[in-house]
Amino acid sequence: MSEGGKQLEAAIAALEAQRALLGDAVVDTALAPMRRELAAARAAESTTHQELKQVSVLFVDVVESTAMGQRLDPEEIHAVMDGALERFTLIVQTHHGRVLKYTGDGMLAVFGSQVASEDDVESAIRAGLGIIEEALLQASHVRQKYDLPKFEVRAGVHTGMALLGGGVDTESSIRGDTVNVAARMEQSAPPGRLRITHDSYSHVRGLFDVVEQAPISVKGVAQPLRTYLVERATPEALRATTRGIEGMQARMVGRESELKVLQAAFGATIAERRGRAVTVVGEAGLGKSRLLAEFRQSLDLRSCWLLAGRAHPRSALHSYGLLRDIVTRHLRIGEWDAAALAERKLVAGLGPLFVEEGEAPIHILGQLIGLNFATSPHVEELLRNERQFKAVAFDAGALYLRRLTNSRPVVMMLDDLHWADDGSLEFVRFALRRNSDVPLLSVMLTRPSLFEQNADWIERGSLHTRLDLMPLDKVCSRELADTLLQRVAEVPAALRALITDGAEGNPFYMEELVKMLIDDGVIVAEADGWRVMPDKLLVARVPPTLTGVLQARLDALGSRERNALRQAAVVGHIFWDQALAAIDPSAVDALPALLRKQFVVRHDSATFDDTHEYAFQHHLLHQIIYDTMLKEARRHGHEKVGAFWSARAEVASPQEVNAVACRALAEAHAHRRLADPAAFASWFDAQFSNYYNAYAIQTLRPLVQSTVEMCERHLGPNHVETARALTNLARAAVQRGETETAEPALQRALAIQEQVLGAHHPDTARTLAVLGGCFQGRGDDAAAEPCFRRALEVRERVLGPEHPLTLGMLVHLAHVVSELGRMDEAEVLSRRALCVRERTLGPEAPETAIALTTLGEVLAKKGEPAAAEPLLRRALAVQQKHLTADNPDIGFTLWHLAEALRNLARLGEAEPLARRALEIWERHFRPDHEWIAFALISVSKIRLARGDAAEAAVLAERAAQVLTLVFGPEHAEVGSTLKLKTSALQTLQNRAAAESHEGINLAPD
Ligand SMILES: Nc1ncnc2c1ncn2[C@@H]1O[C@H](COP(=O)(O)OP(=O)(O)OP(=O)(O)O)[C@@H](O)[C@H]1O
Ligand SMILES: [Mg+2]
Repeated sequence: MSEGGKQLEAAIAALEAQRALLGDAVVDTALAPMRRELAAARAAESTTHQELKQVSVLFVDVVESTAMGQRLDPEEIHAVMDGALERFTLIVQTHHGRVLKYTGDGMLAVFGSQVASEDDVESAIRAGLGIIEEALLQASHVRQKYDLPKFEVRAGVHTGMALLGGGVDTESSIRGDTVNVAARMEQSAPPGRLRITHDSYSHVRGLFDVVEQAPISVKGVAQPLRTYLVERATPEALRATTRGIEGMQARMVGRESELKVLQAAFGATIAERRGRAVTVVGEAGLGKSRLLAEFRQSLDLRSCWLLAGRAHPRSALHSYGLLRDIVTRHLRIGEWDAAALAERKLVAGLGPLFVEEGEAPIHILGQLIGLNFATSPHVEELLRNERQFKAVAFDAGALYLRRLTNSRPVVMMLDDLHWADDGSLEFVRFALRRNSDVPLLSVMLTRPSLFEQNADWIERGSLHTRLDLMPLDKVCSRELADTLLQRVAEVPAALRALITDGAEGNPFYMEELVKMLIDDGVIVAEADGWRVMPDKLLVARVPPTLTGVLQARLDALGSRERNALRQAAVVGHIFWDQALAAIDPSAVDALPALLRKQFVVRHDSATFDDTHEYAFQHHLLHQIIYDTMLKEARRHGHEKVGAFWSARAEVASPQEVNAVACRALAEAHAHRRLADPAAFASWFDAQFSNYYNAYAIQTLRPLVQSTVEMCERHLGPNHVETARALTNLARAAVQRGETETAEPALQRALAIQEQVLGAHHPDTARTLAVLGGCFQGRGDDAAAEPCFRRALEVRERVLGPEHPLTLGMLVHLAHVVSELGRMDEAEVLSRRALCVRERTLGPEAPETAIALTTLGEVLAKKGEPAAAEPLLRRALAVQQKHLTADNPDIGFTLWHLAEALRNLARLGEAEPLARRALEIWERHFRPDHEWIAFALISVSKIRLARGDAAEAAVLAERAAQVLTLVFGPEHAEVGSTLKLKTSALQTLQNRAAAESHEGINLAPD
């Protein structure tokens, strides 16, 4: 362990020793942060040894090995078993697997544990089949040597997530359900057979001949599992595609222009009788192979020769493997053909092309691609000089292509070039150059990673062009989604969105998402169509087939880059370099490489001025990286990123709240609730008021809801922090006019606080204050008053009469008392509040402005609008100076001022103020907020008084609708607003009558 870690351990031990002396409470409080730090240090250290990964697990077991004991003595058993396991191990290793454990008579091997490859599942299954075959050989051996009638194994494979490394046996440690399921596959396989799960099968469909079995149940797994017995590897020639949805052919969507490019290149090759090449570049699954297949379909195969070659994930290990693939496919030399047969086929196939040269170039080419011509007189001598051999062999290969073009144009299609071995790439380049004057079209497909090592793959000035495949656009994505879901009678919007949004224009991802939804029972495939189970739609995971592809991509990165991606994944799908640096400063250095390798993209405009914004190339990549991180490493990362955002979200006053702070608050919430819910809850409560007073309600509303849920889950439903969160939820809800949410939340908070904290606690007072506001919002001023009075009383006692919170309460009380018509009392209360605020905060403080507005409002209501006007104007001046232009507090002052001016019959001055108040509130509050109604009423009254009865009626109607929603249809405010509307309509009617009476037809103004 690191030095820091050791010191922490020592400090913890020292504190523990003093527990008796200091008491539990003190020691536990002091230990909590130290323990967290220690856990983080341990996590950071252990992540290098431990990881969560998708792997394929192979179990092998000798059938009835105990029966062997009756016939053989222990030494003989040991010899038989050891010999067999040794050979089995070799088979695992040749398939790039690793044996983790030997049981007495079997073993556990894992594939993809160190460096994942896209063919890990295939390798595991091939190894399983290989071992079964090997066991047959062993059987005849033991029969002869020990007279043992039977020696059989059974094998099982399953693919899934497992925790690798860590613990006492870190090298061979593997944990998780995946291991149990694989073991169960083996145990339930018939002797001499290999059983695999559907999860493994989904990776290799088309590569093996299998027989589906009746589902079997596995301990610890809820649903019975679909499984298959593997018969054999499907011969190459009979292989169907592994991609697409079984039993469905989706037509190609989009890509018309790309197809035209290929067809035009073919046309030009023939017309000009010159060599051309197109390299199609695109990420995994964007449809390169599909495009090529469609192109191939469009060719008339009688008029050209078609050559095809394909590299595999492990091609790099086989020199000239791609070239060999081209030749052997062309000459139909099978994978399993005996060496002599393969050699005969080569000579017979190429003979007609090399009539002049005889067998020499054929033998040399054969030797290059790994057939054995070493003893050929044409080869033997050459082999002494490797460079010379290669030069001659390349000449032979290029000549082979050239000679083919003598009879017909040649189209050479090479797929998955990014996996090709260097020798083959070099040859291809050579052959293209050499054959630029004959009709040879090469269409080559690759992922962008080819260019990491071969930046100059496309030679300048040649007829070699690059065709980039982009993700499908929104319209095509939708079209493909509809095509894939054609069997669903009515596709729910959420389902389509899940597929199109989740896949971000990648057809392969879309297919895999649909397949996963079928596997997960979200889509039920029935004979007469597919049914969707909407309630299951929410659980979306990354399809295991994509996990394989993405994991292989990740494993190809260096550990520094991989680590940087992990840290970035903690920051989020979108991340910022500075937030990343907060977890690990060196991670930022890896960003240029990750950009180049297209794991991440950079956004031009950042939300935060001083940082650069990045995003993962797509959501699934982010999800898989995040999902495969260990919990403790994730928590540790969230803690650091949370601290980074917290520092940016902390403000000293509502005036400092701006868009950036709001975003930081949301980010801090997202991270800290995952790292340390309790610490987050109290921090958030401390920040809440400033944001609330700045009316940052759009930001707060979702955060308060989630904080309540978080507190309930982590701290319990009756915790004081839960009560605070509930009160904050209610405050945000009241501000948005959602009294139906607010009231029950407040009643719950109050019950907790009165019981746990007592009636005279500031928390209790706050809840009462909010409850008063809630009643007020419902138009029930009588119920609000006692709440405010109780809150005021507690605050005066606990916080003192001049505390800002006490004064805030005084202002509320003044307001409600004025609403209840007790004007003199309201005036006294509001003057008191104003006086203290002016004295303590000064005349320029926004809080003083609020007190001014309240007093102005009371005076206006008392029938003294002339006295109110200067107060309101003073308040407005302060607010306009210190607050942002559309702060709702300015709206209040504007509105009261407008009302005062209206009462003074200065309508021209009043109208723009009332309209501005309406505008501000409409921006801040939901459309059915009562204040919006009040502003509408003011404008309506002014319009009516200024002779525009038509608009007045419309505005009054809108106001009445809002008030009906807020207060209910019976409320007095609704009645008076409807009266306003009626009188506007009456005015209109009177006017119309007068006009028709006079016979004048006035144009509307
Ligand atoms: N435009 C398209 N319309 C309909 N289906 C498509 C389209 N493009 C690709 N597909 C389907 O998506 C799947 C993935 O496509 P494909 O195998 O061609 O991708 P790729 O680019 O060759 O990927 P890789 O790099 O892994 O080889 C296939 O099943 C293919 O049929
Ligand atoms: Mg492909």
